[in-house]
Amino acid sequence: MSTREQWGTRAGFVLAAIGSAIGLGNIWRYPYVLYENGGGSFLIPYFFALFTAGIPILLLEFWIGHRYRKAAPYALRDLARGWSWLGWWPAMVCFVIVTYYAVVLAWALSYMYFSFGLQWGDDTKAFLYGNFLKLTDSPSVVGGLQWHIVLPVVIVWAIVFFYVYRGVRKGIERANKVMIPLLLVMIAIVVFRGVTLPGAVDGLNHLLTPDFSKLANPQVWIAAYSQVFFSLSIAFGVMITYASYLPKRADINNSAFITGLANSGFEFFAALGVFGAIGFLAHVQGADVKDVASAGPGLAFVVFPKIISELPALNELFGVLFFGALVLAGLTSAISLVEVSIAAVMEKFSWSRQKAASIVCGAAFVGSLVYTTGGGLYYLDIVDHFINAFGGLLVGLLEVILVGWVVKKTAEARAYTNTMSDFAIGSWWDFCVRYVTPIVLGAMTLLNLVKEFR
Ligand code: PFF
Repeated sequence: MSTREQWGTRAGFVLAAIGSAIGLGNIWRYPYVLYENGGGSFLIPYFFALFTAGIPILLLEFWIGHRYRKAAPYALRDLARGWSWLGWWPAMVCFVIVTYYAVVLAWALSYMYFSFGLQWGDDTKAFLYGNFLKLTDSPSVVGGLQWHIVLPVVIVWAIVFFYVYRGVRKGIERANKVMIPLLLVMIAIVVFRGVTLPGAVDGLNHLLTPDFSKLANPQVWIAAYSQVFFSLSIAFGVMITYASYLPKRADINNSAFITGLANSGFEFFAALGVFGAIGFLAHVQGADVKDVASAGPGLAFVVFPKIISELPALNELFGVLFFGALVLAGLTSAISLVEVSIAAVMEKFSWSRQKAASIVCGAAFVGSLVYTTGGGLYYLDIVDHFINAFGGLLVGLLEVILVGWVVKKTAEARAYTNTMSDFAIGSWWDFCVRYVTPIVLGAMTLLNLVKEFR
């Protein structure tokens, strides 16, 4: 049997895990989630979610990957016979996510180009929906592909393919070693500029002023858990897959804490820059911060272009840095998303990495094309909603039930990672995985289902 591919260095693995975690979710989702769910007071449910589910599940997935050294479905099958479906399901979810994640990256790439000469003009909303996406009223693929979007999609897929084709050490690790440091420098400049603009303080006040009354709202807690899951890339098979490439001895405990804290630190930092910049736009327009703030595509492709146009100086440079940061953050996440499927089909069909990467990326590329039609955004919304309702949380819940109650291996897992880590995890972890996490995730899942079918 051939030996499993491995990370070249310990830093390589941690960077790749951080690269998967830090993505579009940190830059365009988190700031608004924080703002909308109570600002400063949202940090309470957020950190609660991070320490009761985020980091404990990350540790659990690192253990599963490292202990069983297989792609997610097979690692889970070895952990508990008959449970491989719990690996195939997130692998499928990842595949669907990456088909549109890549398209959003392609938009960011296009906007990097549009930054030169501030090509979006004055009405950035009309530019996005009209000139660029050319949205049609009816959701149809009729009218065919829009080649000006297909081209950047091809570029994004070519980059992703290049790295996953080359393998773990020469591809994925190398990509993260280059892209993550570069991303940090770029985002640091963007944030520094964001918080030093006139009006920034007002934006930050809006972002951070606590609203403790929100803590009584269960939706706020769901928002915290959903954000932590998506942002940390847990319960998607990614962290199991990445940990399966670790060498025999690895400091799993340390890696889980570093990854979790780096991801949260990054998103909090990015949120300061985003809301500083939003405060600036409100200041220039004489508007209220709450009327300017927005999330998702609206934030990145409508509000930010406007901000960039209004900057007093170096507008184009700021545009390239902001959209470049989105592209880099997203690329390392997209690489992790396809790697879940690649690793799984390599094992399923005994394919070579090259064959698996070609087929998975080829199929995902074709899937991406749906979103480059006039009805693209419409499909993106439906799929995104579906994934949020049935991805992450539910898989996370099943994982803790499996390990905590079905195979009852929390003590074994903790002993395993403790023997090879710098510091030991206490029995709080077992308690968390067996009681706290399933109870809160169970409650969240129920609430989600009620909301879905009401
Ligand atoms: N964590 C990424 C983000 O915050 O954008 C998105 C993501 C990557 C989610 C990988 C899930 C995943 F498996």
